[in-house]
Amino acid sequence: MFCNALVVGGAGFVGSNLAIHLKKCFPDGNVQAFDNLHRRGSELTLQRLREAGVSFVHGDIRIAEDCACYGDLDLIIDCSAEPSVLAGSTGDPSYVIQTNLFGTFHILELARRKNARLIFLSTSRVYPVRHLLSVPIQRTASRFVLGSPLPRGLTPEGITEEFPLDGPRTLYGASKLASELLIQEYIETYNLKAVIDRCGIITGPWQMGKVDQGVVALWVAHHIFKRPLKMIGFGGQGLQVRDAIHVDDLADLLLLQLANIDQATGTCFNVGGGHPNSFSLAELTTLCQAVTGNRVPLESVPETRTGDVPYYVTDTSLVRRTFRWEPKRNMRTIVTEIASWIEGQYDDLIKVL
Ligand SMILES: NC(=O)c1ccc[n+]([C@@H]2O[C@H](COP(=O)([O-])OP(=O)(O)OC[C@H]3O[C@@H](n4cnc5c(N)ncnc54)[C@H](O)[C@@H]3O)[C@@H](O)[C@H]2O)c1
Repeated sequence: MFCNALVVGGAGFVGSNLAIHLKKCFPDGNVQAFDNLHRRGSELTLQRLREAGVSFVHGDIRIAEDCACYGDLDLIIDCSAEPSVLAGSTGDPSYVIQTNLFGTFHILELARRKNARLIFLSTSRVYPVRHLLSVPIQRTASRFVLGSPLPRGLTPEGITEEFPLDGPRTLYGASKLASELLIQEYIETYNLKAVIDRCGIITGPWQMGKVDQGVVALWVAHHIFKRPLKMIGFGGQGLQVRDAIHVDDLADLLLLQLANIDQATGTCFNVGGGHPNSFSLAELTTLCQAVTGNRVPLESVPETRTGDVPYYVTDTSLVRRTFRWEPKRNMRTIVTEIASWIEGQYDDLIKVL
């Protein structure tokens, strides 16, 4: 599958898990993790990478020279990002644009020069907020559900790749969509082999969840550390709905995509846990209570933050059909695994999460 792989953002949650998965599946392959350790908690993954036989390179994708060297490379997985939906919203957007957009350019140049295949982790946040806000929804006791009629790009399963793309989408989403466009140009102009995965919530052990990114890990952590939580927006009852995919299910998919890269090149796939792994914040709370045995104070904040959406569930039909792939881990498994990871590293993680 590869001889020399570079996982950019390789000390982050997704990157470190993917790098370790690659090394485990292909012990003869050389796997390097490249990261500037910007994300709080990413330094905790270094020992785990080392123990798995993944070498670490400290570098910054904003800096062209940092991305320029390396010997032979035949695979790049780009998991680096400033992944917060709130990035830049209260001030300077430099970091999010330079990392998520200029960084993509530097990685594309590396891929072009080395003739390496690229897997790029994009986001469901490329879909504009105003279209997601106009998805017809109805309220039940524990969650929002789809109403009717369903607009273009929305099926009973969720959001497809046909969902409209016009309109603002947050700086994070815009930087990712702009990266997708650049990647498409490199595919056309330089015959780059590249796959784009528009992911919804990815989660699992080693996610350093925070208020603006990593909600499942954050929710589990607060239940374990017995800290209060806020249900923000859409009336403050926690009815907003998402779907989540376990990072190991994503890793399984990426290997299938790599094995079929000619077929996959140039397509954007919506990737997520899909309808079976959808949950509202209220339902996630109930699950966290059941798994951890703890209840925490819940504050209701009815006002909605800019950029928040009430309903995003991935219609995974295209990616499931193309790669004959299915996510295997359900929400209970995900929450249980995150809880045992946090309990196992309680003293380190209570300072970070
Ligand atoms: N986790 C999710 O729910 C989710 C959902 C959709 C898409 N994604 C995408 O998946 C990828 C991985 O996300 P994640 O959840 O692992 O986030 P993460 O923050 O845990 O990992 C990102 C890593 O990139 C590193 N990084 C940031 N700026 C950098 C820079 N300038 N140079 C080098 N490294 C830098 C960080 O230190 C971090 O280790 C991102 O591209 C993100 O947009 C994640």
